[in-house]
Amino acid sequence: MRQDPGGYIPALRFHSLTRHYDALLAIALKEEKFKSLLVKQANLQPGDRVLDVGCGTGTLAVLLKKSVPKAHIVGLDADRAALEIARKKAQEAEVEIEFHEALAWDAPFEPKSFERVVSSLVLHHLRDRDKLRTLQKVRAWLRPDGELHIADWGKAQNALMRMAFVSVQLLDGFQTTTENVRRGLVPVLRDAGFHSVRETHREMTLFGTLSLYQAHGGDGNGS
Ligand SMILES: C[S@@+](CC[C@H](N)C(=O)[O-])C[C@H]1O[C@@H](n2cnc3c(N)ncnc32)[C@H](O)[C@@H]1O
Repeated sequence: MRQDPGGYIPALRFHSLTRHYDALLAIALKEEKFKSLLVKQANLQPGDRVLDVGCGTGTLAVLLKKSVPKAHIVGLDADRAALEIARKKAQEAEVEIEFHEALAWDAPFEPKSFERVVSSLVLHHLRDRDKLRTLQKVRAWLRPDGELHIADWGKAQNALMRMAFVSVQLLDGFQTTTENVRRGLVPVLRDAGFHSVRETHREMTLFGTLSLYQAHGGDGNGS
């Protein structure tokens, strides 16, 4: 499917729909539940530097900051309009979050500069080679003992979930979503060099199987 001229697929495929993203996610997906699970799994400590790749409208970044106010949270997204909503959300929540506008594989972070990287509902927006180069960058940005925590569409648990996921594929395109549902993200994370990769949680939703993943393997080598 055609990507945005900026080289990425916006939250709901069309820029005009970005302002409706939060309302849709709150109603259609159990957003608070799975994002809270992801925050818990990431197990942040005071002083940690944490990167949210594809932070979108900032809901997860705000939850992370509220969970551990002494962690330093950085949100990265290619979409300026989504980042504007995120900045407003952080301001309203009275939390300080650093936001960057850049493509995921092109952001100017130093190697070994994060204890944690998190990402929610982003990898299914990336073509296979972009998944790989983004995850390789993430490995470089993580400290050697750093961890990656992901929530995204996973391998379908059953035929019903496989059918439900067609709705996401029609919206976001088959090119970027097929790997999520065909193999799940465990092999994709391993291909990028992560180890101790696990699918930690999966649940059925109206749009297919939503999975949480955990991976280790920051190498700080850059790429
Ligand atoms: C479905 S939204 C998820 C937003 C947020 N993480 C959440 O869970 O609500 C996907 C986000 O990924 C961003 N995105 C997609 N491709 C990207 C890329 N190549 N680089 C940076 N951001 C990207 C989009 O702009 C969008 O905000």
